[in-house]
Amino acid sequence: MRKLFIAGNWKMNKTISETVELVNSLKREVSDIEGVDIVICPGFTSLSEAADLVIDSNIGLGAQNVYWQEKGAFTGEVSPMMLKDAGCKYVIIGHSERRKYFGETNDTVLKKINAVQSVRLIPIVCVGETLEERDNKKTIEVIEKQLQDGFKGINEDNLEKIIIAYEPVWAIGTGKTATPEQAEEIHKFIRDWIQEKYSLDLSEEVRIIYGGSVKASNAKELMSQKNIDGALVGGASLESQLFVELIKNSL
Ligand code: 13P
Repeated sequence: MRKLFIAGNWKMNKTISETVELVNSLKREVSDIEGVDIVICPGFTSLSEAADLVIDSNIGLGAQNVYWQEKGAFTGEVSPMMLKDAGCKYVIIGHSERRKYFGETNDTVLKKINAVQSVRLIPIVCVGETLEERDNKKTIEVIEKQLQDGFKGINEDNLEKIIIAYEPVWAIGTGKTATPEQAEEIHKFIRDWIQEKYSLDLSEEVRIIYGGSVKASNAKELMSQKNIDGALVGGASLESQLFVELIKNSL
């Protein structure tokens, strides 16, 4: 049985004091909620403060990006060990905004996965097609390539520790959610791909979460799909009440 996984990707939002306020409020509101892994991914500057606040709570902490080198002359980058040291358990890799604005590719995704797994951080790896790709009926091809190249050489033990996020680019921040059927179709494709390349057992273990305009009002329908195991939430994770309602509706 795959445990529900709901993560808030705060993107480039919230100062440290705003982080403190949001985390304190979330902590109060979700303390009694069970049966779901709740994770927040604030910006780098807020991570260590957030880590102190969530330490005795049921909220996990993740970062939004990482570099694959251990240390050295890479101005502006943050290493896996630095994230670990700041209190992170998870890290988002290959988000479409990173692919679009910062040149992230399937190859850099793979390097990052290997680097973070070597310090036992859990990668949340994003895949997803653009609107143009969907319109040109290239969705499956694009996702397959992202999986094939992004997970090249990753063994079964390590794939088990990865969370896959399907985020159709056209549904991010647009208010256009994929219908539950559209999302389920791709989630099933990903699970079948894992079964074919690895094993049935593994395909049943790996959590595949959905992202793209998830909110309290559509969470239940999306989460009730057989192959959708949670959500990666942008906008609706920036306010305590919205995020908590979304989580409760997903259970
Ligand atoms: P929105 O929920 O704002 O559409 O963002 C989704 C997302 O990109 C999460 O990583």
